[in-house]
Amino acid sequence: MRSVGILGTGRCLPEKEVSNYDLEKIVDTNHEWIVSRTGIYTRRIADDNTATSDLSTEAAKIALERANITAEELDMIIVATVTPDMNFPATACIVQSNLGAKNAAAFDLSAACSGFLYGVSMANQFIKTGVYDHILVIGAETLSKIMNWNDRNTCVLFGDGAGAVVLGPTEEGSGILSTHLGADGEGGKFLTLPAGGSRMPATVQTVEDNLHYIKMDGSEVFKFAVRIMGNAAKKALKLCDLGVEDIDYLVPHQANIRIISSAAKRLKLPMEKVYVNLDVYGNMSSASIPVALDEALEKGKFKKGDNVVLVGFGGGLTWGSCVIKW
Ligand code: UT7
Repeated sequence: MRSVGILGTGRCLPEKEVSNYDLEKIVDTNHEWIVSRTGIYTRRIADDNTATSDLSTEAAKIALERANITAEELDMIIVATVTPDMNFPATACIVQSNLGAKNAAAFDLSAACSGFLYGVSMANQFIKTGVYDHILVIGAETLSKIMNWNDRNTCVLFGDGAGAVVLGPTEEGSGILSTHLGADGEGGKFLTLPAGGSRMPATVQTVEDNLHYIKMDGSEVFKFAVRIMGNAAKKALKLCDLGVEDIDYLVPHQANIRIISSAAKRLKLPMEKVYVNLDVYGNMSSASIPVALDEALEKGKFKKGDNVVLVGFGGGLTWGSCVIKW
C-alpha cells in the first residue's frame, strides 16, 4: 500500500460579506444572540451569477498550482456538495470541463457537512491501492441559494465558499494514517431540503410552502454534534494506534463555536491547537474543513511530523474523521 498525502490546497470565498448587523435588517435577530449562541460574526455570500462550480474551479486551480500538478494529470475529481449547480450533470463534471482535466473521472458526493471527509476517504483508497495517482477533492457550497432569508433558525448560520485539495502518493510514514466514516439515517429528518427530488418534485405549491429551503432542528443536530465530534476523532486515532494525547492540531467542521469547544474539551485539547474560522465564514458545510485546512497551512499551524486530525458531522446524519501525519 502506498502512503497518500495532501500535495496542495486552495480556497475561494465570494467577496460579498454579510454581517450579523446586515441580517438584523432583514430578519428578527440580533448580533449579540448570533455571537453568543454560534460564534459567527459575518459570512460570505455568492452573487446571483456565481454557482458552486465557479467557486470550486477557482479553489481547484490554486490547489493544482501548489501541488505542481497539471489538470491533465488528474485521474479523478470528487465534488462534495449539497448545493450542486443543478441535479445533473454533476458539478464535478462542470469543474472537469472548466479545468480541462480531460483524463479525470468526475462525480459529486452527497454527505452534507461530512462530504469533504467522505471524499478524502474515497480518494485515499484509490491512491493507496495504486489504481490512481492524483485526485482532486473539493468541498464547495453556495448555501445562500437554498436559504430562507426569513427563517432566523437557519439563515444566520450558513455561508458560501469552496476548498480544494490534491491528493497523491507521498513519502512512506507520512500522509493519511486513518479515516473513519459513519452515518445514522434515523436522524436524517433533523436536517433536510424537502422538495425538488423524486419524493416531492417541484410544484408551484412546494415553492409557495418554502419547501426548497433548508429545514433544521438545531437543538437535535447540536446534541448529535457534541457527542459525535469527540467520538469520531477518537475512532480515527484508534485506527492508527494513536490516542488523544498524540493530537498536535485539530481542524473541525465549523458549525458552532460551542460544538467545537466541547469537542476540544472531550479531546483534552487547548483551543490554541484548534483551527476556528467560523467567526468570519459561518458554516460552509462541506467547504468548512478544506477552507480551514488551507488557511491553517497558510498560517504555518502545522510542523512536519505533526498529527493533524480532521473531524466533521452533518446532515444524513453523517460524520467523518481523518488523521494525517504532516
Ligand atoms: O453543519 C451542521 C448543521 N447545523 C448545525 O450544526 C447546527 C447545530 N445547532 C446549533 O448550532 C444551535 O442549536 C443553534 C445555533 C441553531 C441554536 O442555538 P440554541 O442554543 O440551540 O438555541 P435554541 O434553538 O434553543 O433557541 C433559543 C431561542 C429560541 O427562543 P425561545 O423559544 O426560547 O423563545 C429561538 O426562537 O433563541 C431563538 N432564536 C433566535 N433568536 C434570535 C433562534 N434563532 C434565533 C436568531 N436570533 N437567529
